[in-house]
Amino acid sequence: MPSVFIKTYGCQMNERDSEAVAAQLVAKGYSLAKSEATADVVLLNTCSVRDFAEQKAINKMRNLVGNARKDRPGQILGYLGCMAQSRGQELIDKLPDVDLVLGTQKFHRAAEYLDELLAGKRTKIVDTATEAKSEATIREHLLNGSAKTSVSAFVSIMQGCNQHCTFCIVPATRGEERSRTIPDIVAECRELALRGVKEVTLLGQIVTSFGKREVTVSNGKSGFVQLLEAVHEIEGLARIRFTSPHPKGYGDDLVEAYARLPKLCESAHIPLQSGSDRILKLMHRGYAREKFTGIIQKLRQAKPGIGIYTDIIVGFPGETEEDFEQTLSLCREVEFDNAYIFKYSERRDTPAAEMADQVPQAIREERNERLLKLVNEIAARKYDAFIGKQVQILVEGPSKKNAARYTGRTRCNRIVLFDGSARHQSQIMDVKIERTGSFTLYGDPAILE
Ligand code: SAH
Ligand code: F3S
Repeated sequence: MPSVFIKTYGCQMNERDSEAVAAQLVAKGYSLAKSEATADVVLLNTCSVRDFAEQKAINKMRNLVGNARKDRPGQILGYLGCMAQSRGQELIDKLPDVDLVLGTQKFHRAAEYLDELLAGKRTKIVDTATEAKSEATIREHLLNGSAKTSVSAFVSIMQGCNQHCTFCIVPATRGEERSRTIPDIVAECRELALRGVKEVTLLGQIVTSFGKREVTVSNGKSGFVQLLEAVHEIEGLARIRFTSPHPKGYGDDLVEAYARLPKLCESAHIPLQSGSDRILKLMHRGYAREKFTGIIQKLRQAKPGIGIYTDIIVGFPGETEEDFEQTLSLCREVEFDNAYIFKYSERRDTPAAEMADQVPQAIREERNERLLKLVNEIAARKYDAFIGKQVQILVEGPSKKNAARYTGRTRCNRIVLFDGSARHQSQIMDVKIERTGSFTLYGDPAILE
């Protein structure tokens, strides 16, 4: 049977989509190749959020095409996911050796199309059509892929986003918001728990909008909170996480859920984007600075020690030095546990790309560096505060860099390394933090003194 190699760019949703495609192909008898050099099929699952991510995948494909021409005749090459969706046929026009372009609503057709291409029944396939119910097709898991993935799994709960932030290409690549049903998601999580999974991360572009049209608010609880409650009931699961929420989805029902549902881990990745009300408005984010800081305050009250992570864009069109300073001041005020900082990148067919006052690249760079410095200083201080403390971790497996070390995560989503062995695999255990490294805590499992 043919072998396949999938390389993934971008977010956790893409990782999850790739896993589902791999599981689908394995179920059809394909094997997973160790490298692209030995694979009959190479698929690039792409990201469009920034130009840089697109260029990386295009360069990689050029490279693959060159190698296939030289040494690997007959190798099938394909693009999947967001860039496949937004560029479609254009990708084959540019690189005619590409055989397959499969959009974000068609992952479940991968096996069928590859069979046709491998059998020579068709020579090129581009499918970027929309498909009703495609949100419920990302459900197969490959838990035996590596020890690391077997204790923790991603579950896709919805597709698309209707927020239409003016900088963002996701509503175009992922389409309208469409949610799976609660029973369907619970069934998937239950099966995962039976297969030994202890932690699930519920995934979507804007998970706090889950079930907005499909699930009626009940006792003041949104569809998303109802989903959290239903997943919380599942025996065997010990931890629940989700990403990405939108600040506007942090109603009191969700804040209370943190206090009420012990399996819901005290960690939240809440994208801020900017600390300036003027820029937030231009971004069409739907909240102001004060609303954001208010949410963080409430969450910290409900769950002291909660890890708060965020995304920030610098150099959005029209961002002045004063606007940027608002972002700096918000970061000083909130003290994020970590923040992912992005230089604004013009995306095709988005309103922000058409705005006047595009910020020069040099200023985007400079603001990126200044913000990074501040965020890192605060993050390091927060890491250091763990020294001497006892934390609960879920052990994921041996560390990639050093097999004598095991790695786990705290409930607040920090990585902990410790001298471990196979007997620690998949355990929930307490460790004492001895020192910190770059975005890592080093723990000692022998905490009983
Ligand atoms: N809710 C989605 C957001 C996807 S994009 C999710 O997390 O899956 C992830 C982050 O990329 C956003 O929060 C934003 O900070 C950044 N981003 C999105 N579009 C961008 C652009 N055009 N330029 C720079 N950064 C961008
Ligand atoms: Fe993008 Fe904004 Fe949705 S960042 S994914 S349009 S919430």
